[in-house]
Amino acid sequence: MKTPRAYWKPLAIGAPEPFRDLPVKLERMIHFVPPHNEKVRAKLPELAKTVDVVLGNLEDAIAADQKEAARKGFIELATSVDLGRAGLWTRINCLNSPWMLDDVTEIVAAAGDRLDVIMLPKVEGPWDIHYLDQLLAQLEARHKLTKPILIHAILETAEGVKNVEAIATASPRMHGMSLGPADLAASRGMKTTRVGGGHPDYAVLSDANGDAPRTAFQQDLWHYTVGKMVDACLAAGIKPFYGPFGDFSDAAACEAQFRNAFLMGCVGAWSLHPSQIDIAKRVFSPDPAEVKFAARIIDAMPDGTGAVMIDGKMQDDATWKQAKVIVDLARQVAS
Ligand code: GLV
Ligand code: MG
Repeated sequence: MKTPRAYWKPLAIGAPEPFRDLPVKLERMIHFVPPHNEKVRAKLPELAKTVDVVLGNLEDAIAADQKEAARKGFIELATSVDLGRAGLWTRINCLNSPWMLDDVTEIVAAAGDRLDVIMLPKVEGPWDIHYLDQLLAQLEARHKLTKPILIHAILETAEGVKNVEAIATASPRMHGMSLGPADLAASRGMKTTRVGGGHPDYAVLSDANGDAPRTAFQQDLWHYTVGKMVDACLAAGIKPFYGPFGDFSDAAACEAQFRNAFLMGCVGAWSLHPSQIDIAKRVFSPDPAEVKFAARIIDAMPDGTGAVMIDGKMQDDATWKQAKVIVDLARQVAS
């Protein structure tokens, strides 16, 4: 059997098309499930019809005494549940945990041919990706797998953010990256107790104007990191994702956070609760009015060059390219 390196082209950094070396798949929501929960597993065939990706979570939120049951449950899920068109991912435990090695070796042995992507938490630098890359190459050869398992990194430590560009280009297996705001907040010493989202105290005040009341404008705590992650991912031809939003009772704030990420270039987010599936589907599919306008730009400039006015707004080669991103995504959603 060929090794993954023999049948995966190296990334051509600087090539013009985003995501050029990845299978083209819609991954608007990565839906997390606890795989050791039988009731959840029983509902998966139905649930899978509504999501792009099902992820069996083995890491945080799974108690230490449930780790083995979760791993076994994931293998059961992978080998016996029909997920239709939905992708199958797992989030393994981090590299310096006592569970990671068994997570990878047991899952690849039993269900490697069903697994699309391994999400690796707490990635600090390219060395973490190299380790998993080589381990997977060995296991794929041993178990005669015919397609490589991809790696998705969670960006959730200060060290990881510092090394984000090297992580993005660490291996041809790199699928993408998700922001992990909860662990990142802890790693950075941020003074919060939240899983993603804003904070009422992270705000700027409108200018003082005599006795007039001043307004506090809340800011996006994650803007800097999402921007840095999107640039690193797109420059490497891999996919950026917003991660989790922990306040399930605040659908509006979840939607706003996902939408910021979408507008900045992210292609999806995690759904940790069924109510977040539709939010992610709505946000990470392009708005029909935007698609119509983008299609008008493309029609008005068939070869993508020059300048035209549409509804009083100048369009040129650069807006044509923006329009193509939106129209291509709309086609993908429709297919
Ligand atoms: C996700 O893993 C996070 O830490 O936010
Ligand atoms: Mg985390």
